[in-house]
Amino acid sequence: MTHVLSAVAWPYANGPRHIGHVAGFGVPSDVFSRYMRMAGHDVLMVSGTDEHGTPILVQAEREGVTARELADRYNRVIVEDLAALGLSYDLFTRTTTRNHYAVSQEMFRTVHRNGYLVEQVTMGAISPSTGRTLPDRFIEGTCPICGYTGARGDQCDNCGNQLDPIDLIDPHSRINGETPEFVETRHFFLDLPALAEALSRYLHERAEEGRWRPNVINFSLNLLEDMRPRAMTRDIDWGIPVPLEGWEDNPNKRLYVWFDAVIGYLSASIEWARRSGDPDAWRRWWNDPEAVSYYFMGKDNITFHAQIWPAELLAYDGEGARGGEPGEYGRLNLPTEVVSSEFLTMEGGKFSSSRGVVIYVRDMLTRYQPDALRYFISAAGPENQDTDFTWAEFVRRTNDELVAGWGNLVNRAASLIHKNVGSIPKPGDLTEADHALLAHTAKAFDTVGSLIERHRQKAALSEAMRVVGEVNKYVSDMAPWALRKTDPDRMATVLFVTAQAISDCNTLLAPFLPHSAQQVHEAFGRTGTIAPMPEIREVDDLDGGPAYPVLTGDYSDPPPWGSVPVEPGTPVPPPAPIFRKLDPSVIDEELARMRGESGPATGETTGGADTPATGDTPGG
Ligand code: MF3
Ligand code: ZN
Repeated sequence: MTHVLSAVAWPYANGPRHIGHVAGFGVPSDVFSRYMRMAGHDVLMVSGTDEHGTPILVQAEREGVTARELADRYNRVIVEDLAALGLSYDLFTRTTTRNHYAVSQEMFRTVHRNGYLVEQVTMGAISPSTGRTLPDRFIEGTCPICGYTGARGDQCDNCGNQLDPIDLIDPHSRINGETPEFVETRHFFLDLPALAEALSRYLHERAEEGRWRPNVINFSLNLLEDMRPRAMTRDIDWGIPVPLEGWEDNPNKRLYVWFDAVIGYLSASIEWARRSGDPDAWRRWWNDPEAVSYYFMGKDNITFHAQIWPAELLAYDGEGARGGEPGEYGRLNLPTEVVSSEFLTMEGGKFSSSRGVVIYVRDMLTRYQPDALRYFISAAGPENQDTDFTWAEFVRRTNDELVAGWGNLVNRAASLIHKNVGSIPKPGDLTEADHALLAHTAKAFDTVGSLIERHRQKAALSEAMRVVGEVNKYVSDMAPWALRKTDPDRMATVLFVTAQAISDCNTLLAPFLPHSAQQVHEAFGRTGTIAPMPEIREVDDLDGGPAYPVLTGDYSDPPPWGSVPVEPGTPVPPPAPIFRKLDPSVIDEELARMRGESGPATGETTGGADTPATGDTPGG
């Protein structure tokens, strides 16, 4: 039993999330966490909404509400969507809690005390027409590294490099096109050069282990070549105050997202522990050197998690060139693995809400089953390369694989058992073919499990579905329906073996398809929970802030990852279909909706804004 931290990227609360987002961080982290719990590990899965900074301010301005109102609105939308998808967070919280403020500030103070936050005068952009600070993201220009003309002041989405607005060639404001003026401003910079050697050692060790996906480790090693100091504070009034004398009361200086959202993994773990009644429980995942941690995200977040966050942890732990001592949280573990996926595109192009090329999680789930979406993402998602979502492929996968392959098997078997026996039959002697099938399903636990553990979920799911195919073939070959009159004992044995094999397949599929796994479980007369679901709970802020909804759940008693014997005599009720077959007309309907031919999709609430964030495609 190992302590496993599942650290899931923090979505911006600036709009509803689309399926590209949940393909990047949501479903893969849940499949992994569910499997690891079933395999007997002690999993802590945490995340929350990222509610500070420019992305929130921009959208609040568009919607004519305050930043706080906007964050409240979309925090709730996102919580509801992630719950509907069945994502089993131990705690999904937000960055506006008092606890998160306190944890971020403790990190800042200790990293500062250790000497890795240095104050520097830089050139900040202001708008000549208003005299106000122009946030980095509001500035656009040509990337000095790759020449891309749509680079933003904070990052170039074409080459992925982090930028400063002053580096841009021909910078101009995205608001009104004017050329910004640059004036002196003071900020705290994370001294990456002083952490370079320690970070390099860490990344090279990980590279040697060979576990990270090649794209991710190569990108991360490349970052070592650009270890300039990075600003961790900003000229902005929406965020966490800088916890130092002379700064604390300045309403226009706030911690930057790199010293805010990313610390959420730690603050959410601490919040979870405080709510559990054992306030030190989080330490088992963060201080124990044997604990492991997996960080799930889309590839636009690699810099964040493979450079900035490990550097901050090394600085907190006092392990850079300037030495130092850990603060009150003790020595904190660095990420075991940064599990980044590539991008999902939509019908051949980037997701773009302004052009309507988007499907929000909410809209998808009002029209389709959550497990159909989870199946598509797991079977055909952007695990190792950019991948396209098309309605035609969604319909095909749902109908040919989920419904025809798995759903029909379950239904056929449950109905044969219900009609001919009424309960799980008592078997006679098993033939060689019977033993072979059960050996096959039993062996799949190792194969599928180790593929999920290595984040090869596509291969894991296709292996599980191959086993489903074997069971289908067995039922067709044995034709139990023809044995009712001629050899009822043999029929009973075949149906028993089928029920056992389906039970095994259902366990193998449970991390991917938790909603239907529970239904299949019950279709064969089983009780208890095979796939626990998260719940939304309204909680009080632990330290006196406003109340808010969290996602949490009791996942403490998972079914084992292995074959559980079916019990002859268990009543099997008349089956009801589990998966919905889709009419091919869905494809044209959805494409028409996307082109705006049948009115806006329900729940379209972003006011036509693009919402680039974790797992999104860049630009748009
Ligand atoms: N909200 C940011 C984004 O979507 C950061 C997410 S991951 C974080 O890009 F944990 F680092 F916050
Ligand atoms: Zn570039």
